Amino acid sequence: MKIIVTEHYEALSRRAAEIMLEVVRGKRNSVLGLATGTTPLGLYAYMIADHEKNGTDYSDIRTVNLDEYRGLPATHAQSYAYFMRKNLLDGLGIPSANTHIENGMAADAEAECARYDALLEALPRDIQLLGLGSNGHIAFNEPGTPFGAGTHVVTLAESTVRDNARLFASADEVPRQAFTMGIRHIMQAKRILLLASGANKAQAVYGMVRGAVTEQLPASVLQLHPDCILIADREAAAKL
Ligand code: F6R
Repeated sequence: MKIIVTEHYEALSRRAAEIMLEVVRGKRNSVLGLATGTTPLGLYAYMIADHEKNGTDYSDIRTVNLDEYRGLPATHAQSYAYFMRKNLLDGLGIPSANTHIENGMAADAEAECARYDALLEALPRDIQLLGLGSNGHIAFNEPGTPFGAGTHVVTLAESTVRDNARLFASADEVPRQAFTMGIRHIMQAKRILLLASGANKAQAVYGMVRGAVTEQLPASVLQLHPDCILIADREAAAKL
């Protein structure tokens, strides 16, 4: 794993944007695996600013997202589909047919997971962006998830519900279940870029980089990926 430590969040976002833009400019029909959450917001702002200033072309780019809350329609302001449109996809002018995310409202969850697995096999990702849960999760693969898992429905850990409650009116409104890409497909990406910012990620970053590879800390599997880059700000890297 290549480790880049930056002074602060702003520098982390800038460095991440350089890496993403290198992929986009190097291959005009790249497949980008994308994440939601607070951490990539700075990166996404850089990508939109670059698109507006330099006209970087996204018309043939395809995107695949990690996860979606179960029970939220794409129109819901807290759905990840909505988050992606608002914070990145609309700003880059990516045709919506080229953007993919699980359908949180799918009536047949098993069929939805199979559909998404087939999509992931058909669209090998050139780069997969990840954030990191304070409990070491990647996407919504919570501790204990088998490394071989494909797309599945997950019951969110209480710590994840607490972490995500800040984006809802109250913790009660956070959906308890989500669809998530499994670790098997995360590991299939050609390159992985994980961003970690803030002191509440320091323990998970330490375990991910220096600890044993264990399903109890899902991000530790990234030690086995041949081209994984971690960008952490000083606070997140404090225990390394
Ligand atoms: C988001 C996702 C999650 C987040 C993680 C960190 O699509 O899959 O794994 O990346 O929970 O979230 P933030 O960035 O809000 O700290």
